[in-house]
Amino acid sequence: MEPINVYDYEALAEQRLAPGAWAFYSSGAGDEVTLRRNRAAFERIQLLPRILTGYGAADTATTVLGTPVGLPILVAPTAAHGMACAEAECATARGAGEASTLMVAATESTRSIEEIAAAATGPLWSQLYVYRGHRPLAESLVRRAEATGCRALVLTVDAPLWGSKDRSARVPADWPPAANLGELDDSELGPEPLTWADLDWLRSLTAMPLVVKGVLLPDDALRALDHGAAAIVVSNHGGRQLDGVPASIEALPAIIETVAGRCQVYLDGGVRRGTDVLKALALGARAVLVGRPALWGLAVDGAAGVRHVLELLRNELEEAMVLAGVGSIAEIDGSLVRWS
Ligand code: FNR
Repeated sequence: MEPINVYDYEALAEQRLAPGAWAFYSSGAGDEVTLRRNRAAFERIQLLPRILTGYGAADTATTVLGTPVGLPILVAPTAAHGMACAEAECATARGAGEASTLMVAATESTRSIEEIAAAATGPLWSQLYVYRGHRPLAESLVRRAEATGCRALVLTVDAPLWGSKDRSARVPADWPPAANLGELDDSELGPEPLTWADLDWLRSLTAMPLVVKGVLLPDDALRALDHGAAAIVVSNHGGRQLDGVPASIEALPAIIETVAGRCQVYLDGGVRRGTDVLKALALGARAVLVGRPALWGLAVDGAAGVRHVLELLRNELEEAMVLAGVGSIAEIDGSLVRWS
C-alpha cells in the first residue's frame, strides 16, 4: 500500500514496529478518553468556506517566534525515536527540515541534541524536562540547547509525574538509552514537580524564548505570560497525562480570547488532516504540532517518511485553504469555523 494520508502511515507503522514500541507510541493515559476526544472534537467543528475569492493555490508559509517555516505544522517533541528507526531523531530532524519546518527535540531523545543539530536541515527547538534531584542537569541541557543553536526552549509543564498508560505497561518496550542524559538511567529518573517560580529560574538561565507546553486553562496561560513565556502550547500531551481533560482544540478558544494576541499560541493533539490544521488556525492557533504522525512516518520510511507525512499534511492544508477561499495563512480567521 502506498500511503496517501496520515492514517495509512499509522497502519503501516503498526505493522512494522515491535509491539512494545507500537504500544508506547500509540497509547494514551487511563481509559484513553482524552486521546479519543482529541480526534472527536475536530469532527465537531464545521468549516464555512468563502466563495468566489479567486484563489487556485494557497501559500502555507508563516513564522513561529520569528522563524520562517513553509507550513504551520511543527514536529512535537516525542521520546525515543530509536524504537522507530536506527537513525532516530537525526532522521526526524532531516525529514522535518526537508519539509521546510522545524522540529522540537525531546530531552529523552535517543540521539543527543548535538547529534540531532549536526544532522538537522532545518531549525530546532529544544524541549526540557527537569528531573527530581538533578537541577544541574537541567542547567546543562539548557546550555547545550543554546550551544547547538536551538531557537527556543520548550518547557513541558503537564508532567509532574509520568502518566500511566495501561496498553504500554502490558507490553514492555525495548527502550533505548536517552543520549542527553549521559550515564544517568532515565528509567530511574522522575520528573520534578515544577512551580511558577521555576519559570523565573529558567528565564534567568537563558535568553532563548521560553515556550510553555501543556496549557489547558486561560488563567494558566495568563500566568505563563506574566512569568515571561514567549509562547504557549495548548496541549494535553496527546492524551498521555491526565485522562479526562478536554481535547486541546476544545481548550483553545477560551485561551485565545484571554491571551488576546499577547503571545503566539500553538496547539497539538489529534491533528491528522490538513482540515484539522485549518480549523486550529481559524480558532486562533499560530501553528500546530504533530507528535504521532511524525513517528509513524519515521517508522515506515525514516527521514523520507517524516518528510512525506509533513508534505501530505501541507498539501491537504493548501487544498483546504483553496476550497475555503483563502490564499494565505494571514487570511484565516474565526469566520471560517463554527462548532456543531
Ligand atoms: C509525547 N509527548 C511528549 N511531550 C513532551 O513534551 N516530551 C516528551 O518527551 C514527549 N514524549 C512523547 C512520546 C510519545 C510517544 C508521544 C505520542 C507523545 C507529547 C507530544 O509532544 C505531543 O504533545 C503529542 O504527541 C501531540 O499529540 P498527537 O499529535 O500525538 O496526537
